[in-house]
Amino acid sequence: MTKNKNNKAIWNSRIGKKTSSFFQKIGSSLNIDKRLYKQDIKGSIAHVEMLFKQKIISFKIKNKILYGLNKIEREISKNKFQFDHKYEDIHMNIEKRLFEIIGEEAGYVHTARSRNDQVITDLKIWIKSSNKEILYILNRIIKTILKLSEKNIKTIMPGFTHLKNAQPVSFAHYLMAYVEMFERDKKRFQNNFESLNESPLGVLAIAGTSFNIDRNYTAKKLGFKNPTNNSIDTVSDRDFVLDYLYSCSVCSMHISRIAEELIIWNSDGFNLIKLSDKIVTGSSIMPQKKNPDLLEFLRGKTGSFYGNLFSMLSLLKGLPLSYFKDLQDDKEIVFRSNDNLINCLKILDEVLNNLSPNKKKMLELAEKGYITATDLADYLVKYHSMPFREAYKKTASIVNLAEKKKSKLENLDISDLKKIVPKLSSDVLKVLSLENSVNSKKSFGGTSFDNIKKMIVKYKKNYD
Ligand code: ARG
Repeated sequence: MTKNKNNKAIWNSRIGKKTSSFFQKIGSSLNIDKRLYKQDIKGSIAHVEMLFKQKIISFKIKNKILYGLNKIEREISKNKFQFDHKYEDIHMNIEKRLFEIIGEEAGYVHTARSRNDQVITDLKIWIKSSNKEILYILNRIIKTILKLSEKNIKTIMPGFTHLKNAQPVSFAHYLMAYVEMFERDKKRFQNNFESLNESPLGVLAIAGTSFNIDRNYTAKKLGFKNPTNNSIDTVSDRDFVLDYLYSCSVCSMHISRIAEELIIWNSDGFNLIKLSDKIVTGSSIMPQKKNPDLLEFLRGKTGSFYGNLFSMLSLLKGLPLSYFKDLQDDKEIVFRSNDNLINCLKILDEVLNNLSPNKKKMLELAEKGYITATDLADYLVKYHSMPFREAYKKTASIVNLAEKKKSKLENLDISDLKKIVPKLSSDVLKVLSLENSVNSKKSFGGTSFDNIKKMIVKYKKNYD
């Protein structure tokens, strides 16, 4: 509530009583939206320049306002600005200070503008830069995974389905699966730019304005592509917030999956990877413990991203057009998701830079569970002209035999194998080796060493 010289709140000219001081404190969004001060000042500068270009304000007034706004920006960035909750939000705090610095002519800054279009303009600019920062860190993570993958093309481990040994794969192939996920996350954030690039500035409170404003001019000045189409929709719309929160949620879900995977692989039961001391924590009572707390932190945070997305969806459900105070909560939700995601991405990058595969254990585990049985079935189809279902049954009998004899498939006697498939020769033993199994999966997207190499080269080109 900016006061004019009669000590009345600017928007308060017709309201006789002071607003409840309790609500003034609670309803103020200042602590949250002060993070928008740069975007707010940038928006005001573009707006004032447009007002001058359109001959709505004079050269002198424009310059006075610009002087005041620049001074305010310096004050805030140097922590010399007196914020006051009495003035509701960042927009009113800045406007009030403008009055103090340049006097009554500050009143021209809000010509042909409303806080309703002002706040969405600020928030869209802010989310655009958050998107960019997230994309930047995602690139860093992808590079880290590519580096780790490159070193582990021939590191063989069991691939799991149902968390049971399924088929042998390369550790790099597992890692590269996450590159695909993070690439899709990038696409989601990139797609968000389309709606973020429409400028809300100039729709005012709900109806537009009778002033001869130039919305294309302010849009370009502020880095948007074009102005939004409908004033009512513009002040009501928070779809771009939902898109952002959804993108954060999916990205965090991916982070939680890799985190969980690494927690399992790091457990004493699996012992497939080692985490360096930099990324583990101790126990207050058990001196021997090295816990994967960072990974658990990542896994746990996902809940809060989903919560934020659902808060916003619920907030918008059934809300009539157009602006309501309800919408003020959007910023807190967005900032929380942004801060959490940036932190999680940074932590994940650190974890990935500080883990190493326990190659011996990976191989040992891959040797369990008759993991090359599918290769045997495929061999029977290829070299003994058997339909796959028949080959599947024969292989199941061979696995049963191995189980009975407590032997690995490749150590079975060829004479025993011949009892099940008479025409088998010792040639079959070759397909049962882990390395052969991995390297034989040459179908596009499969785990053969060559495929992985090619994928790494393909992705690395984008990141050099
Ligand atoms: N602080 C408000 C918000 O974030 C700014 C918009 C206020 N508009 C209004 N008509 N009261 O939503």
